[in-house]
Amino acid sequence: MDFKIALAPGDGIGPEVVAEAVKVLKKIEETFGHHFAYTELTVGGASIDKWGVALTEETLEKAKQSDSVLLGAVGGPKWEHLDGIRPEQALLGLREGLGLFTNLRPATMYEELKDACPLKDELVKNGFDILIVRELTGGIYFGKNGTSEDGTYAYDTEEYSEAEIRRVMKVGIQSALLRDKKLTIVDKANILETSRLWRKIAEEMLKEYPEITYNYLYVDNASMQLVKDPAQFDVIVTSNMFGDILSDEASMLTGSIGMLPSASLGEGTLGMYEPIHGSAPDIAGKGIANPLATILSVAMMLEHSFGLKEEAKTIENAVKTALKAGFRTGDLLNGRTDYKPLSTSEMGDKVIAFMQRA
Ligand code: IPM
Ligand code: MN
Repeated sequence: MDFKIALAPGDGIGPEVVAEAVKVLKKIEETFGHHFAYTELTVGGASIDKWGVALTEETLEKAKQSDSVLLGAVGGPKWEHLDGIRPEQALLGLREGLGLFTNLRPATMYEELKDACPLKDELVKNGFDILIVRELTGGIYFGKNGTSEDGTYAYDTEEYSEAEIRRVMKVGIQSALLRDKKLTIVDKANILETSRLWRKIAEEMLKEYPEITYNYLYVDNASMQLVKDPAQFDVIVTSNMFGDILSDEASMLTGSIGMLPSASLGEGTLGMYEPIHGSAPDIAGKGIANPLATILSVAMMLEHSFGLKEEAKTIENAVKTALKAGFRTGDLLNGRTDYKPLSTSEMGDKVIAFMQRA
């Protein structure tokens, strides 16, 4: 089949990891006879350098014309001190502009990476497989905000409508049904009105699904439970900001933030896929970044936007096989000094070498 993919490599290590993902897509084309046509989107700092804004109307339009977007990362010290202009606006603009209200962030413990998990062995002896379903176009990220004229006062507002909560809860529920049928709603209902509304709607919706076991956790407790007993979680559904924070925490449990892919989805099949790590300016240009989160994001793209499940599995299996064979980038060493880590492109090559039809 033919698909149009928009590539938005962005800043820092973005272009390096996206290059590996494109190699993987090429292998998929060869192996399964699909055809991918690419357009390149200049976003983030790269776009600020070119046009003075993080995301232009034309770039957003190009993204809308595609079947999916693969994004690397945006941001870096070079663009930190511009007045009112920030590379991150590209991400928020794409999420909002494409109507991508749900963000799926799977945090799975790979047996092969147990040694890289910072938790004690006994806490992760049974592994864990968590899916964080993060609301992505609402909450404090998009609520009313401002700074007073004299710069001595600023505010941001957490806001949620019933409709916004419902549509992301629906994804959480559907995800739980496809997995272990366990749903945890993370909020701060002892403090926030928005959380109390969230609970009311969740309660109503979940009445229809007696097969789902669910519970509510305050976000402070949830962040503690994640390091105490990660295996208790199946699907976590939560607000934009809490999901942002908890997914970074969960990523580290898998061994490295360099492992976590993500999918941002809306009503249709158009989605945006990106590693959850950032642009990592400290290692940019060195060719040592871990490309696996981006490669796994491609697998999510094939599954969620293109409906290519077997192809997605092929990539996931190849990543597992490469890890099982002992191949590691520097972020996955957990202090080991007896191993020379692979470069970004060497890791990409290993994955490709293990890709074959089941
Ligand atoms: C993420 C990032 C973004 C977010 C930033 C870069 C805007 O941290 O995707 O998790 O906060 O959503
Ligand atoms: Mn984040």
